Amino acid sequence: MSDVIVSPSLLSADFGRLNEEIDLINESDADWLHIDVMDGVFVPNISFGFPVLEFVKRRSVKPLDVHLMIVEPQKFITEVKESGAYIMNVHYEACLHLHRTIQEIKKAGMKAGVTLNPHTPVCMLEDIIQELDLVLIMSVNPGFGGQKFIEHSVEKVSKLRNLLERKNSHAYIEVDGGINLETGRRLVDAGADALVAGNFVFRSSDPLETISSLKSL
Ligand code: DX5
Ligand code: ZN
Repeated sequence: MSDVIVSPSLLSADFGRLNEEIDLINESDADWLHIDVMDGVFVPNISFGFPVLEFVKRRSVKPLDVHLMIVEPQKFITEVKESGAYIMNVHYEACLHLHRTIQEIKKAGMKAGVTLNPHTPVCMLEDIIQELDLVLIMSVNPGFGGQKFIEHSVEKVSKLRNLLERKNSHAYIEVDGGINLETGRRLVDAGADALVAGNFVFRSSDPLETISSLKSL
């Protein structure tokens, strides 16, 4: 079994010490850095936008895993690429022409990810899965860090693993929200490749050790 991919979520960092928080992740075993962009329309919260991403891009040595919780994400593909994104995750629920958007993300030179809200079933990906590099399963309702894990997400990961096998897809399965060693263990057993963790990493007394323990789940 290969190591779990770990993507700490910067949303839970102390923004007053952003340099140090990014440096901490740079020194860690984390694989990616998860960046949550919110618009106050798609989700009931606003986080940060491109000027902050530009700063993160210059400081981070980890590839940026950008999660766009915004309406009409297709309007910002160029900006997201220029802000240094390695993966661009768009929500299934925010894209009217998802196939076209995925093609454009890949054409811009990024990995294409589709994110599912807790109410969106995995079967909705049946006709797009072959185009995707990653599927991000939300295990909380998007908008805030530190929420309680939705149990049904484990079953969703198993269903997605079956769909990937059936379609011969090598897309990564990533899960986001309420992740700790206990929920993480069950998600990895169900077939998750990558775990996002915000509060569990940044509020930990030893973030480096917490990241390493998630990696070896
Ligand atoms: C929620 C965000 C998450 C969040 C996770 O809308 O997409 O990435 O930062 O935070 P935790 O791990 O604290 O649930
Ligand atoms: Zn996220």
